[in-house]
Amino acid sequence: MDMVNSSAVPFSIALVFIAAVITKVAWGRKTTDLVSSCTNTLTRPPAVITGITSAVLLLHTLCTKGFRAMLQEQYTKFGSVFTISFFGMKTTFLVGPEVSAHFYQGPESEISHGNFLDFTVPMCGKDVGYGVDIATRIEQSRFYLDTLKPAKLRCHFAPMLQEVEKYFAQWGQQGTVDLKQELDQLLMLISARCLLGKEIREKMVDEVFSTFHDLTENSLQLTSLLFPYAPTPTTQRRDKARARLSSIFAEIEDLLQNLMDSKYKDGRPTTEAEVTGLLIGLLFAAKHNTTSTSTWIGARLLSHTECLEAALEEQQHIVNKHGDNIDYDTLLEMSFLHCCIKEALRMHPPSTIFLRKVHKNFTVQTTEGYKYEIPRGHTIASPLVINHNIPHIYKDPDVYDPHRFSHGREEDRVGGKFTYNAFGGGRHACAGEAYAYMQVKVIWSHLLRNFELKLVSPFPKTNWLKLIPEPRGEVEVSYKRRILPRNMLEK
Ligand code: HEM
Repeated sequence: MDMVNSSAVPFSIALVFIAAVITKVAWGRKTTDLVSSCTNTLTRPPAVITGITSAVLLLHTLCTKGFRAMLQEQYTKFGSVFTISFFGMKTTFLVGPEVSAHFYQGPESEISHGNFLDFTVPMCGKDVGYGVDIATRIEQSRFYLDTLKPAKLRCHFAPMLQEVEKYFAQWGQQGTVDLKQELDQLLMLISARCLLGKEIREKMVDEVFSTFHDLTENSLQLTSLLFPYAPTPTTQRRDKARARLSSIFAEIEDLLQNLMDSKYKDGRPTTEAEVTGLLIGLLFAAKHNTTSTSTWIGARLLSHTECLEAALEEQQHIVNKHGDNIDYDTLLEMSFLHCCIKEALRMHPPSTIFLRKVHKNFTVQTTEGYKYEIPRGHTIASPLVINHNIPHIYKDPDVYDPHRFSHGREEDRVGGKFTYNAFGGGRHACAGEAYAYMQVKVIWSHLLRNFELKLVSPFPKTNWLKLIPEPRGEVEVSYKRRILPRNMLEK
């Protein structure tokens, strides 16, 4: 079982509290007044901390057993709705699909990201995302959806495959690599080619990605999160990196054409500053999530012989049917590989928890029939680390079992729409889900077909100190070239 690192308080909990502090400052007295003026006729969720002793016990569990174990304990004790209150900051946890519908699909006027994502403004710019009003932001989300919709993905397939083939052609006949580092490099090249265009891929990929790295690293430092506009060395490095990226993007002609061609409802085309901001947002959303996911798939597959064999068998079957060449449609036949990716994401979701701010009281009802009112002003949280491990939904949740998503079992449908949330859901669902699956399948089908792989290092622990919890340390994998033998063509 992949337990939370006992010595490290995960980054996500830090974010919860940072967000809570920021929110607290921003909402200040207003929030307190609003909450206290709420009606008391409906029951409030059970409060986890009712005195100093329970606060100490909770902190003790957090520090000794970790974030997931701490939440799991509360879930077992109180059920699917409970409020944790730290230093007067209240966060209500909604665990499981029965109580999550409003969280994911409530209207922006009633439930929103609040100011949790304000840290992205200096990173992406004031012209996009959380720097603009909600109506403009919704239109910009549509630009992403239009750009990445499945119908447009076919045009990314050939360049993506070329990048993958070219990259692995550099590997020798056999050897040992750090899979995490290799996939990080490869995904940088794919993102450059498919999301930024050929010119950047060919002429300045290193500069763009080292600048992008400076931008994201410095944007996510604690000081930048807490004081985004203070003139600290971190924010200065962040702003310098952003300015450099803007000037590079301004000179490049073949940046993702779809985004550049996007138009607002009133017919206004996107500006240069908007395209730059949207591209930075896209790169941020795309690269980090996929790097960690592709590495986790490797670690999981290579430590489960049965799954590895089943994945190979599927590739063999496809090779027998279509020959060595793969195209976009071939990827759609890789249903077991699809399940392997989905299962790795269930166990290692890049976002471990989602946070929202409540602007209008709402009620939730648990499966046991308890009804709770969540008051305006509360922070609410949907913890994927628990949602994805509920035993009455996911059988033996600590076991890597891709078949749980296969036809006939489909455990993610047991509880309805919000049972599986690796890509979010509802209003803020990931725009790049289909692109992400395509990318990871292109990489892993190539690896399975062309290499015999073994995990040399122990199964990696999770680095909870990262915003996106990735495998800790090197993921050492040995490889040996092979060609999947072609049997008789199957009918
Ligand atoms: C395994 C890979 C990925 C995972 C697990 C993932 C997950 C997510 C999640 C959970 C959200 C919503 C966050 C929220 O509720 O605020 C999101 C948003 C988003 N993702 Fe992904 N993502 C992945 C890959 C990608 C890729 C490859 C792209 C682009 C090529 C992408 C583009 C986006 C965009 C544009 C948004 C923002 C949508 C909006 O604001 O309307 N993602 N992603």
